[in-house]
Amino acid sequence: VWAKDFMFRHGIPTAKFNIVESKSDLLSVVKEYSFPLVIKMESLQGGKGVFICENKKEVESVAEKIYGELSGEKLLVEEFLKGVEASYMVFCDGKNYVPLPSSKDHKKIYEGEKGPNTGGMGAISPAPVMTDKVIEKAKKKVIEPVIKGLREEGIEYNGIIYAGLMVENESVRVLEFNVRLGDPETQSILTRLETDILDILYPLGKEGRLSMDLDIKWDNRPSVCVVMAQYGYPGKYEKGSQIDFSKLKKEKDVYVFHAGTSLKDGKILTNGGRVLNIVAISDTITNARKKAYEKVDSLKWEKAVFRKDIGL
Ligand code: GLY
Repeated sequence: VWAKDFMFRHGIPTAKFNIVESKSDLLSVVKEYSFPLVIKMESLQGGKGVFICENKKEVESVAEKIYGELSGEKLLVEEFLKGVEASYMVFCDGKNYVPLPSSKDHKKIYEGEKGPNTGGMGAISPAPVMTDKVIEKAKKKVIEPVIKGLREEGIEYNGIIYAGLMVENESVRVLEFNVRLGDPETQSILTRLETDILDILYPLGKEGRLSMDLDIKWDNRPSVCVVMAQYGYPGKYEKGSQIDFSKLKKEKDVYVFHAGTSLKDGKILTNGGRVLNIVAISDTITNARKKAYEKVDSLKWEKAVFRKDIGL
């Protein structure tokens, strides 16, 4: 809600919106929108507080669910944006910024972008939709006005700006901001970073400035990150399935990150919805996919779920 107001104040492109705080306001405001429309909860919901409503009945059921359980929750009603999503992040010291390569997160639980939203079931970097022209627009219309707007409002901001973008016909509109790196985008981006990340973060943290003379090197090859989750996610799921790492072979440019695991009596067990992230870098997305999915196959546990179409 704060971010949408901020974007409105600073002319940053985003979907038309309204903010409501009660069931009756919600039902009245939606009359100004065509379907599908989007309803977003203000409180953090781990990527699961977004509802895409196709008709009035679905709006009523969201209203019932939210205001039946949480009074006072602010909701954002938004126009549904069409296009392709991409994530664009920068390191920023409040004045200067250094962009990271673009990436694309696959948010839906099922292949073909179907089913409920998750925190992200996989990512690729770079995002093909982020052409040079689109990146230039993201800088000029989003990142630079955000930095300027924060300064004008007396907000000292030093860290990551993450813009979740919808790209359509080479124009960008902001879906959301995060003041952190994206998950799982980061796994596909930072594995491509050749410079020591501390050379970037240390001056930023210690002195509040980016070293603009630092020549940050990135691997030009693309990367693919596949998320392995526990059956039931993003709804209820069990913890404690054992993962067998014995078939996993070490390979150059392939990484396995633990996202939700625990170690008990020498065994690695699932301990979250999103459990492992498998990242591979190769000369093409197709080859990176192949390498990543080979590792996924060697790590599958009984209740593992993952999308087979990451990067397709
Ligand atoms: N992958 C989306 C996020 O980090 O918010």
